[in-house]
Amino acid sequence: MSIESVLQENRVFAPPEGFAARAHIKSLAEYRKLYAEAERDPDAYWAARANEELHWQTPFTKVSEWQAPHAKWFLGGKTNLSYNCLDRHLEKRGDHLALRFEGEPKDSLTLTYRELHARVCRLANALKALGVKPGDRVGIYLPMTSEAVIAMLACARIGAVHSVVFGGFSAEALRDRMADAGAKVLLTADGGWRKGGVVPLLENVRAAVAAGIPSLQKVVVAQRTGVSLELKGNEVGWNALCEKQPATCEPEWVDSEHPLFILYTSGSTGKPKGVLHTTAGYGMWASLTSRWVFDLRHDDVYWCTADVGWVTGHSYVVYGPLMNGVTVVMYEGAPTTPGPDRFWDIIERHRVTILYTAPTAIRAFMRLGDEHVKKHDLRSLRLLGSVGEPINPEAWMWYRDVVGGGRCPVVDTWWQTETGGILVTPLPGATPTKPGSATLPLPGIHPAVLDDHGQKVEQGGGKLFVVKPWPSMLRTIWGDDARFKTTYFSEREGLYFTGDGARVDADGYLWLMGRVDDVVNVAGHRLGTAEVESALVSEGRVAEAAVVGRPDDLKGTALVAFVTLKAGVEAGDEMKAALLKHVGKEIGAIARPDEIRFASALPKTRSGKIMRRLLRDVAAGKDSKQDTTTLEDLSVLAALRNDEE
Ligand code: WT7
Repeated sequence: MSIESVLQENRVFAPPEGFAARAHIKSLAEYRKLYAEAERDPDAYWAARANEELHWQTPFTKVSEWQAPHAKWFLGGKTNLSYNCLDRHLEKRGDHLALRFEGEPKDSLTLTYRELHARVCRLANALKALGVKPGDRVGIYLPMTSEAVIAMLACARIGAVHSVVFGGFSAEALRDRMADAGAKVLLTADGGWRKGGVVPLLENVRAAVAAGIPSLQKVVVAQRTGVSLELKGNEVGWNALCEKQPATCEPEWVDSEHPLFILYTSGSTGKPKGVLHTTAGYGMWASLTSRWVFDLRHDDVYWCTADVGWVTGHSYVVYGPLMNGVTVVMYEGAPTTPGPDRFWDIIERHRVTILYTAPTAIRAFMRLGDEHVKKHDLRSLRLLGSVGEPINPEAWMWYRDVVGGGRCPVVDTWWQTETGGILVTPLPGATPTKPGSATLPLPGIHPAVLDDHGQKVEQGGGKLFVVKPWPSMLRTIWGDDARFKTTYFSEREGLYFTGDGARVDADGYLWLMGRVDDVVNVAGHRLGTAEVESALVSEGRVAEAAVVGRPDDLKGTALVAFVTLKAGVEAGDEMKAALLKHVGKEIGAIARPDEIRFASALPKTRSGKIMRRLLRDVAAGKDSKQDTTTLEDLSVLAALRNDEE
């Protein structure tokens, strides 16, 4: 399969002069020098960076060890990321604001670094009292409130491994993840606010527990929505538990390679993968990239709109910014509740200086109209970031001109759950940007676009690999090292395969082109089509399902499901509604197909493989809004295309 790009974009924007002058990295020449330095002597380069970024309780004795595909970094060293996020700031800047939380119903909470430290310590002590030991897994299923940050840092403080599950996931999805991780304790809340309603987190937890999480001993419940709480069985109240605990807690000094978290992400087969990150390599990269890419300074008011349930929330709401001692804005609710200007209102009132959000949100705001943005004074903004999927040049320009008033650099940051932190991105004071390009790799990062023969493409399209290990790369898939090897290191032996297609232009800039595997990116959320397929089939009346992505103006990609039904089952709107409801229950609302098309048969190759490329064409090709319930005979099309696949 050859990968071609049709995008032609020739605009180039130099970093604004005033910005470059005070930036951490001030010119392209400075960037190139660092890049060359990292290339010449990687271990010396990485050792220097790790020493700058982290407090080391015990210094490391060896920088790296690479036995493909297994990496170890900063061996022999001991540190603690909760200490690095909190304690380091206490002496000089303990009264500086760490968190500015705003709830959807407009309630608010601010916490200084000192206050956040105390809350983290109390919960850490409480977890210890519940019997949580270093290496034990703790589940987190919380809304975007301060508790989510406190929960993660409390785990890190005692060497427990957190596994955050996005609050939008269903009870079934939660159960699967918690059972796979073997969680001993689960931290949750009665609910969270979203679009004026309550997301019933505790209800979902109860359903998940009833379905069976054998390892689970306790559920800790924070109160958020004010619904009166009657705790049952193994549930304990968060406040009652923390209140009696001391406000200090000696951090557990863990090895560099001690597991920090497991985060589940979708792959091309049915079961989500538990991506494992460890402490020091992940931590130093979250810290370094936050400062370089967002050009963080202590007085910044930084807002990353991602939920802590995604990796962006881990690296760029919690660990990276807090290690840099800035003020982090956290918002609980939906972007357009109660009105289309909620985001801009938040930026104005909190005087946000840095905004990091997703193309799908940018496109949605663009569609709502400039007036909602222009109504607010956004002059506090000095930098804009984008993440999650390719950003089309039109949205990039709108972001720069309308939101950023033409004065803020835009950083389009490419990375993945697996990479732990940003790998390809402009540096805002150094890199000339081109709308739609993530530009160049950070120093120490070696991406390569390879063609189908494994040859490096100097200019043109191909598959994106990372050819040398880096500190924050995933270490394995929890409980399935074989899958780790086949998923990431078998496309080209020993090279990390990203699953993305990319193009290199004449300046060596990278243009990301989306996934080349059966993974789709819907509104910035990664979904495996196989997961949605198995959810559809599990409804009971479906014989077979194939789910593909179709380009969508707003979501980037929309999900189209081709479904064949069991004999005697009637295709129709009722069936469609039942399937949508079922997928919502199995995975969550984000996985509900945008379109369901019933077919009499699915097109297959002679070896029985569903011809997805054909289905993608069918899905993209015609506006089928009217005839989605009619039975399509895709086998006819398949016969015509049989040689191609
Ligand atoms: C996939 C990773 C990394 C945090 C959010 C998503 C796509 C991510 C970009 C970008 C083009 C991007 C890729 C990648 N992606 N950022 N700036 N330009 N594509 O994390 O769920 O692990 O998804 O998101 O396809 O492989 P994730």
